[in-house]
Amino acid sequence: MTDRYAVFGHPVVHSKSPDIHAAFGRQENIPVDYRAIDATPDTFLAALEAFVAEGGVGANITLPHKEAAYALCTTRTARATRAGSVNTLLRKGDRWHGDTTDGAGLVRDLTDRHGLDLRGRRVLLLGAGGSARSVAPSLLDAGIMELVVVNRTPERADALIDAMGEPGRALSRYWEDLRDLGDFELIINATSAGRDRDATFKLPMSLVNSMTTAVDLNYGDAAIAFLAWARAAECRNTVDGLGMLVEQAAESFLQWHEVRPQTGDVYARLRSQVGTLSGED
Ligand code: ATR
Repeated sequence: MTDRYAVFGHPVVHSKSPDIHAAFGRQENIPVDYRAIDATPDTFLAALEAFVAEGGVGANITLPHKEAAYALCTTRTARATRAGSVNTLLRKGDRWHGDTTDGAGLVRDLTDRHGLDLRGRRVLLLGAGGSARSVAPSLLDAGIMELVVVNRTPERADALIDAMGEPGRALSRYWEDLRDLGDFELIINATSAGRDRDATFKLPMSLVNSMTTAVDLNYGDAAIAFLAWARAAECRNTVDGLGMLVEQAAESFLQWHEVRPQTGDVYARLRSQVGTLSGED
């Protein structure tokens, strides 16, 4: 039976993952059978079982199944446990092993593609949902000096910080106090606020210094509002989430096929489709 791979989500029809993994496979001369499988929360587990019966050995998991995927894994990587999130499943015998590649994808995009040195930096993370949680451990592991998490619902920021287990370096603050937090070399929007059509971001200019890079984990229309604020605030660089998308896919590909694909060509092609509207330099 051919080894099969898939992304599970709902909706999943617009996922770029099948395209990205097929391109990596062609590039690395590895035959890749990777498809998108739409499953609702009610049908997810049955769909995953059917996938295994047809030769499924690896899967990416996207909204709204990340928590269910986390729960069904028998073993997980340390970074997945810390993030409380799984976006990559690997079949091991008759069990699932879970990993999260989002944070590593973000760090690789920022360091390798955008040439940022994260060591010793102050980082402001806006949001404390699944996206924020999946990138926070990797930012800490990349050697940043301080991670400040601010969320509309403060309890979620506190929970995220507790899960990091680094009280000296990772702290939560109130959204109302943004003006008093000083300035940051990296400001990351991990909220879903920009997905609303009429979203605008009103953040204090005092957050920005001469080196600030603003990053939106979204790309396309969902990244417009935050990156518009970042440009108005004269952030030095603006980065959307397209590079992270490609890099997290490369990291999943590495887990499954033991080869890290080159990402430059795939990124360039997707960039030409998505455009630079969302503010990438
Ligand atoms: P995701 O998986 O994309 O992170 P999520 O887990 O639902 O989605 O988290 C969404 C995040 O965006 C949360 O941090 C949420 O804040 P709350 O915890 O207070 O709900 C944040 N968010 C959504 N809409 C927002 C808005 N209009 N302003 C500020 N934060 C917002």
